Amino acid sequence: MAGRELDAVVVAEINVDVVVSGLTGMPVFGAERLVEQVTLTAGSSGVLTASGLAALGLRVGVCGLVGDDPFGRYMLAHLERLGIDRSGVLVDPAQRTGARVLLSTPRDRAILTFPGSMARLTLEDIRFDVVARARHLHLSSYFLQTALRPAVPDLLARAHRLGLTTSADTGHDPAEQWQTGTLLDHLDVFLPNAVEAEALTGAASVAAALEQLAGRVPTVAIKRGADGALAARGGRRVDLPASPVQVRDTTGAGDAFDAGFLAGWLGGADLADCLRRGNACGALTAAQVGGTGGFDLASVNALLGGGAEGRVTD
Ligand SMILES: Nc1ncnc2c1ncn2[C@@H]1O[C@H](COP(=O)(O)OP(=O)(O)OP(=O)(O)O)[C@@H](O)[C@H]1O
Ligand SMILES: [Mg+2]
Repeated sequence: MAGRELDAVVVAEINVDVVVSGLTGMPVFGAERLVEQVTLTAGSSGVLTASGLAALGLRVGVCGLVGDDPFGRYMLAHLERLGIDRSGVLVDPAQRTGARVLLSTPRDRAILTFPGSMARLTLEDIRFDVVARARHLHLSSYFLQTALRPAVPDLLARAHRLGLTTSADTGHDPAEQWQTGTLLDHLDVFLPNAVEAEALTGAASVAAALEQLAGRVPTVAIKRGADGALAARGGRRVDLPASPVQVRDTTGAGDAFDAGFLAGWLGGADLADCLRRGNACGALTAAQVGGTGGFDLASVNALLGGGAEGRVTD
């Protein structure tokens, strides 16, 4: 496997984020309001995780679907700029690239999502020649990839047959149904946040959710925002606080955590080190505005130099 060209391929829902910030009041139909700024940025949990893996020095590819439109070209240029292999990204003139509009106030955020190409990727669109070049497959936003969802067990089983390991971050289920079928049975690593872990298991606490998930997936890490993260592998449990940073914007912190954790896991690090790396990438992303560009290997190592106190039990 060491001879494979790519460390990881991410099967991603691809979309741009249009961030509207500095609102002076709530939008009102029939009226016009001025805002401080409108910014176009790379969206997509999967692309942000791929970007984080690339920032940590891993060789990464993305499989996904975009339209032949300005948003699609923006996302392809983003991947190109970060040196991410984009040969698995299909450009289909019949599709329109997914987009989110984020209305951001200092207190809260409202999101308007146009699923577009995010919800149109199918198993037939996946370039298995690209997948076969990687050691690991990460699946993002299971609930947003509605056309791919029924075939996800097939996708992951095929990846395993090709010799890859697998991971997923489901993200939130907008329908609040939280049905994952046999997804978990095909994963080597599972990376939900606390809300998702509790919703998926029906457990009353994060610790109980971790136990349930650990019964089905060999390695599980649960993200807990400003409270850090906890993880399980075999009989081992690790619970670590967040890395101390001045928080500015938590967009993409979860996707950055995934990148840090997976980079450690793929590098053979022990569970506590994987979790520390996830926390550091999440914190460095939360310390800046926007979902990418917050860290590289040097800044993660510098932050970890300080050491994080936590609980490790075998
Ligand atoms: N305020 C914070 N201070 C320090 N670290 C943070 C903070 N918020 C998030 N992090 C780090 O980022 C990780 C992931 O954040 P979070 O739990 O918000 O994930 P998420 O809900 O999946 O996020 P996303 O909205 O990106 O999907 C946390 O486990 C933590 O390590
Ligand atoms: Mg998340």
